[in-house]
Amino acid sequence: MRKPWYTYLYIKSPITKITLGILSVLIAIVVILFIGLFEEPRMEAQTRNWEGRKIEKGAEIYANNCSSCHGPDGKGLPNVAPALHSRYFFTQRLKDIGWAGSLHDYVALTVAAGRPSKVNTQWAQIMPTWSNRFGGPLRDDQIEQVTAYVLNWEESALQQTPEEDPWQFFQDAPSKAEGAQAQTPAEQPAQGESAGPRPPQELFVTYGCSGCHNLDEPQTDTNRGPVGPNLGNLHEVAGEIVPGQDAETYVYTSIVDPNAFIVPGYNANIMPQNFADQMSEEEIRGLVQWLLDPNRQR
Ligand code: HEC
Ligand code: HEC
Repeated sequence: MRKPWYTYLYIKSPITKITLGILSVLIAIVVILFIGLFEEPRMEAQTRNWEGRKIEKGAEIYANNCSSCHGPDGKGLPNVAPALHSRYFFTQRLKDIGWAGSLHDYVALTVAAGRPSKVNTQWAQIMPTWSNRFGGPLRDDQIEQVTAYVLNWEESALQQTPEEDPWQFFQDAPSKAEGAQAQTPAEQPAQGESAGPRPPQELFVTYGCSGCHNLDEPQTDTNRGPVGPNLGNLHEVAGEIVPGQDAETYVYTSIVDPNAFIVPGYNANIMPQNFADQMSEEEIRGLVQWLLDPNRQR
C-alpha cells in the first residue's frame, strides 16, 4: 500500500528536528529585520504623501476663504491684508514682533483666533476668527491644512530678492526684510518723534519684552525666567554682572546689543537684535531707567 504523501513530512531524527527548528527561527529573524529596514522609508513616503494631501486641501481652503484679503498668490493686497508669501514673513516677521514660538504656531494661532481687534489702522478690516472653537467656520484639521499651505510657500519666498519681496504690505512692522533697508527710510522711525517718546510700560509690551521677561519675579538660582531672565531684582544685580559696566550701561547694552553679553544659562540670538532701530534713543534711555527703578510703576 502506498503511504499517504504527508508521511514524508514526518522527520524521525531529533537532530534534524532541532536543526530545522533553529533554521526557521533564524529565517524569521532575518525576515523581521528586512521588514524593519524597509518600514522607515515606507513610513516617510506615507508621511510625505499625507503632507502633500494636507497642503492640497489647504490650498482649497485658502482659495475660498483667504485669497480675497491676502491675495490669490499670498502676496497681500495693499490696505487689505499683509503678504504671507514673502521672504520677510519667513525670515524677519517673528523677530520683529518678538514671538518666541514657531512660525507654524504663529500662523495656526492667528488663523484660529484671528485678530479680534484692529491693532493696525493700516488694514481696512480685521483678520477674522476661523476656528469653530472660537465661533469661526473651520475645524481644527482645516486650520492645520491651511497652515500647512501657507508654510509651504517658504521655499519660494526665501528665493525672493528684497525687491520682489512684497514686504511693503507689512508697513506696520517695525523693521524690513534685510537688504530692503534703503527703500523707504523716511517712513518708519517717525513714530517716536512725532508723538513724543512712548512710555516704558508701553514699550515693554509693544516690543514683546513682557512675553519673555517676568517683571515681578526676581532672578535667583531657583527662580529663573522661562525664556529670558526675570527682571524683578535687576536694580540690585545689574551693576555687578559685567565687570566695568555700571547698571545703566549694562541694561542699555543688554537692550541694544543683547549678544554682547549672554546671561549664563541662556542662549544667544533669542532676544531680538534690532531694538535700537525700533525705539528712539530717548525711549531706550527711559526704558533703562524704568527697568532699574526699584519702585517701578506698571
Ligand atoms: C477680511 C480680510 C481677511 C481674510 C478673509 C483673512 N485675513 Fe488674514 N489677516 C487680515 C489682516 C487685516 C491681517 C493683519 C492683522 C493685523 O496685523 O492686525 C491678517 C493677518 C494674518 C496673519 C498674520 C500675519 C502677520 O504676520 O501678522 C496670518 C498668518 C493670516 N492673516 C492668515 C490668514 C488665513 C490663512 C486666512 C484664511 C483662512 C486669512 N488670513 C483670511 C485680513 C484677512
Ligand atoms: C524673544 C524673547 C525676548 C524678548 C522679546 C526680549 N528679551 Fe531680553 N532677553 C532674552 C534672553 C534669552 C536674555 C538672556 C540672554 C542674553 O543675555 O541675551 C535676555 C536678556 C535681557 C536682559 C539682561 C537681563 C539680566 O538679567 O542680565 C535685559 C535687561 C533684557 N533682556 C531686557 C529686554 C527688554 C527691555 C526687552 C524689550 C524691549 C527684551 N528684553 C525683549 C529674551 C528676550
